Amino acid sequence: MNAFLRDIPKAELHLHLEGTLEPELMFSIAQRNGISLPFESIESARNAYQFTDLQSFLDIYYAGANVLQTERDFYELTRAYFQKAARQNLRHVEIFFDPQTHTDRGIEFETVLNGIYYALKEAKSEFGISSKLILCFLRHLSADAAMATLEKAIFYQDKIVAVGLDSSEIGHPPAKFKTVFDRARQNGFLTVAHAGEEGPPEYIWQALELLKVSRIDHGVRCLEDEKLVERLHRDRIPLTVCPLSNIKLCVFDSIEKHNLKQLLDRGLCVTINSDDPAYFGGYVLENLEAVQTGLNLSRQDIVQLAKNSFTASFLPEDSKQAYLEEIDDFVASFSEVE
Ligand code: HPA
Ligand code: ZN
Repeated sequence: MNAFLRDIPKAELHLHLEGTLEPELMFSIAQRNGISLPFESIESARNAYQFTDLQSFLDIYYAGANVLQTERDFYELTRAYFQKAARQNLRHVEIFFDPQTHTDRGIEFETVLNGIYYALKEAKSEFGISSKLILCFLRHLSADAAMATLEKAIFYQDKIVAVGLDSSEIGHPPAKFKTVFDRARQNGFLTVAHAGEEGPPEYIWQALELLKVSRIDHGVRCLEDEKLVERLHRDRIPLTVCPLSNIKLCVFDSIEKHNLKQLLDRGLCVTINSDDPAYFGGYVLENLEAVQTGLNLSRQDIVQLAKNSFTASFLPEDSKQAYLEEIDDFVASFSEVE
């Protein structure tokens, strides 16, 4: 089954670039930039990755991101992710980045974007992995700060497909960013938002009704609201679910208690993603392995999840179709070999 999970063509749609910073690279960039880290060693960094909730993770995640300063740093970070993605047969990725985490430290928006973008283009030619960028606003900061970030992004619309919302969810409802998202959509950006990870179903409703999102990031708390499940189903709104993240941040007690299988069985368009793989113990393949084992998923479930990852993407229709056919071909040839 592992070869099946590894080799089936798949996409990742919920991946924070800053969350791919493995301790080894964190230390090497820190040394190059003369920055001291709050960890003594690579090993003690990994040992510190014990979280009780979203905020306890975010504190460490922002501390790690402080080492990133130059275009080269952002390039190396992005490149390292694509090397991993290629080994797991990721064919398409939609990557979140948090410009405010960097511009608030005096790093130019362009430094961040250029470094990332160079690696995206290289990944397309080197690995054949296509990609899109999604700019996330930090929701613990003000709507005005988000608007100022959007004004920058408007100059680079050819490189950014959508805007999203991440960071501390509780106390920062989607409604806080309605005006920002209105302006983003008027300028042609698609929209997504983290909602219903720790926050209540009401935040998912707000993301749909006020921010007019195309997808919900996480969204696992939707099952608490039957009308909401019906709405997500009716409008085919995808949920980008991140199982290992949910366990690490104590959204569920264990993988066996995760509601992914229930979401699938309700016919929702759920996808499997790694969120912040350097911090949560695995990339897409490890997430698939965890749910396959923990929830006893069938091969048909896995195929559905892989297909959903393309259906839910922001790729053009013809590319989606081509990838779906690739999955069918893969499944047929894999069955022959067995
Ligand atoms: N939730 C909210 N904000 C985040 C996350 C997450 O899972 N990862 C990185 N920023
Ligand atoms: Zn996330």
